[in-house]
Amino acid sequence: MTPDLLEEGARRLAARQQKEQLGKTESGGRAAGFSRLHTPGDVDVTHGRILYLEDVSVSFDGFKAINKLSLDIAPGELRCIIGPNGAGKTTMMDIITGKTRPDEGRVYFGSTIDLLRYKESEIAQMGIGRKFQKPTVFEHLTVFENLELALKTDKAVTASLFFRLDSTQSDRLLDVLHTIHLADSVSRLAGNLSHGQKQWLEIGMLLMQDPKLLLLDEPVAGMTDEETERTAELFLSLKGKHSLMVVEHDMSFINTISDIVTVLCEGSVLAQGTLAQVQADERVIEVYLGR
Ligand SMILES: Nc1ncnc2c1ncn2[C@@H]1O[C@H](COP(=O)(O)OP(=O)(O)O)[C@@H](O)[C@H]1O
Ligand SMILES: [Mg+2]
Repeated sequence: MTPDLLEEGARRLAARQQKEQLGKTESGGRAAGFSRLHTPGDVDVTHGRILYLEDVSVSFDGFKAINKLSLDIAPGELRCIIGPNGAGKTTMMDIITGKTRPDEGRVYFGSTIDLLRYKESEIAQMGIGRKFQKPTVFEHLTVFENLELALKTDKAVTASLFFRLDSTQSDRLLDVLHTIHLADSVSRLAGNLSHGQKQWLEIGMLLMQDPKLLLLDEPVAGMTDEETERTAELFLSLKGKHSLMVVEHDMSFINTISDIVTVLCEGSVLAQGTLAQVQADERVIEVYLGR
């Protein structure tokens, strides 16, 4: 989730608690949101790439976490990223989303947007959604409210308590609820969902903003086998409509969803190909898969 959204959630929760203290209840038992759909600017993908990294490097105290990393992703592609702990997978996502500035290299969204010129919040607004490892839904809000909140770009929380979603927004919310398998749980508090359901809800919150590119860091870690299978279906259903970059260690999950797998090691690309190809690569076996 974006820092903006986290802040917004905390503000909204505080506003609601204040309102409850005043003895008022929200109409229909839920808060409705004054919000507008985010309209991401045009991303030029005529060169066949939605994301493009070239010779990107970053050091932390002299240690090269990312080392001349070059990689690109096609529009609608579902790219899987694997690699040992410390390979730089999360740091790569930090760089794409503007959380970490690289020391050198180029990072482009489409062929024209130089991501290194933008702040983290601006990059999120452009249509790059990020899912961190730990679910960060608002536990004290319902599934519905969490999704509704994700639509908000307007910061006027007071206004948000008195306006309703327009029909396009309601349609999207319903659509997302079905996509993330939570249509039967709209009124449940997010805090009462299972770990897997919380992860889906957070993915749903990203989908509410209709991101062009979704970055997902170890999304099935801690999920049951059944939840993992459903997540695989979910990702396959998103492919084509969105571009996805998925970091995972779960090989059977990767096997189900992957086309091209990129293996990161010591901050750069060690190998790339189908899962079968990279699994047969001696160097990959050496550093990651084991003998
Ligand atoms: N902000 C930071 N400050 C210092 N070292 C960092 C920072 N972020 C990542 N690192 C280091 O960079 C390396 C890559 O980390 P990370 O990107 O988290 O790897 P992965 O996600 O592939 O496990 C690790 O050695 C980690 O300790
Ligand atoms: Mg990581």
